[in-house]
Amino acid sequence: MNAIIRTVVAIAADAGIEVFGVSDGFLGLIENRVRRLVPTDVADILARGGTILGASNKSDPRRHVTGRHPDGSPIFENVLDRCLARIADHRLEALLVIGGDGSLMVAQAFTAAGVNCIGIPKTIDNDVRGTDLAVGFLTAVTIATEALDRVRTTAASHHRVIAVEVMGRHTGWIALWAGIAAGADVILIPEIPFTHDHVARAVLRRRDAGQRFSIICVAEGAAPAGGCQAVARLDPASPDPVRFGGIAQQVAQHLESATGIESRYVVLGHVQRGGPPVPQDRILATLLGHHAMSLLHAGARNRLAAIRDNALADVDLAIPAQGPRRVPRDDPLIAAGRALGVSFGDG
Ligand code: F6P
Repeated sequence: MNAIIRTVVAIAADAGIEVFGVSDGFLGLIENRVRRLVPTDVADILARGGTILGASNKSDPRRHVTGRHPDGSPIFENVLDRCLARIADHRLEALLVIGGDGSLMVAQAFTAAGVNCIGIPKTIDNDVRGTDLAVGFLTAVTIATEALDRVRTTAASHHRVIAVEVMGRHTGWIALWAGIAAGADVILIPEIPFTHDHVARAVLRRRDAGQRFSIICVAEGAAPAGGCQAVARLDPASPDPVRFGGIAQQVAQHLESATGIESRYVVLGHVQRGGPPVPQDRILATLLGHHAMSLLHAGARNRLAAIRDNALADVDLAIPAQGPRRVPRDDPLIAAGRALGVSFGDG
C-alpha cells in the first residue's frame, strides 16, 4: 500500500493537488484522523510493506462499534453522516479507496451519498472483482512459494507429507498460484470441494510410484465436500467476521490415519502478508496509483483502476461490491495442474 501512497502523493504534488491521508482506513474518517501528506512524508517508503497510514479491516461507518451490550456483543451505530461531514470539513473532492472487496464495498455507501470514489485494488487474496490483479498478491505468492520450497527439504528427507495452509479467505488464488509455482502434489481450494479419500489416494499413488513424500498446498477457506470451512476465530466487529484457520491440521490428521504416512502441517499466517513487496507489486502499485490519478484528472467518477487482460483498465466501482472474485473451475492454471498430475482432491 505504501508504494501506492507514494505514487499518489508525488503525482498530486506535481499537479498542485492537495492529498490528505486518512489513518486506519474508514476509522480515521469517523474519528477525524486526517492529515495533509506531502512528498517528504512518502520519501523512502516504496520498499516498505504495509502502510504508513495504518489499516483496519473492521471499520464500516454503517456499522461502527460504539459500545458493548452486557453480554459483550458490540453495539453498532451508523455514523456515515459523521464521515460525510469530515469530507466536507476538509473539502475533499474525491476519496481514493485502497483495499480489498470489503473496503470497496464500503465505498459504495460513499458513492451513494454523492462522494466521488476511485478504487485501487489491494489485497493478498486477489479476489477483487473487476481486476485480474490486486496489489499484494504477487508478494504473498512469492512468500508462500518459498515456504513450500523450504518444507520440501524436510518432507523429502524424512519421507513425510507436509500440508502448508495459506491465506485467501473465500478464494484459492494464493494456494493455486503458489502451489503450481512450487510443484505441490495436492492443491486444495475453496472453489473445489475435496474429499480426504481423494487426497489420501493421491499421496498413495505417489508412494506406489516411488515418491516417499508429498507436498500439499491448502487454502485456509478450503473445505471437504459436504463439510464446513475451518474457523479459527470470530471477530464480530468486522464486516466479515469469520477468520479461517485449521484446515491443514485436519487434512494432515486424516491423511496420517488413512495412509500411515507421517503427516505434518504448517500454517503460514501473517508471514505471507508482510515484509518488503516484490518488484512486480511495486510496479503494479505504481501503475495503478498513476492510473487512478489520471482517472481523477480526466473527471472519472466512481471507477476502479484495474488490470484486465494484461492492460490498464477501469471498471464501475459497483463491480467489486458484488462479492469476491473466485477461481473459475476452467482456470488455465487448474487445467495445467491437472495435466501435470496435481490432485485437487476431487478425483
Ligand atoms: O483479506 C486478507 C487476509 O489476509 C485474508 O487472507 C485473511 O483471511 C484475513 O485477511 C486475515 O485477517 P486478520 O489479519 O484480521 O486475521
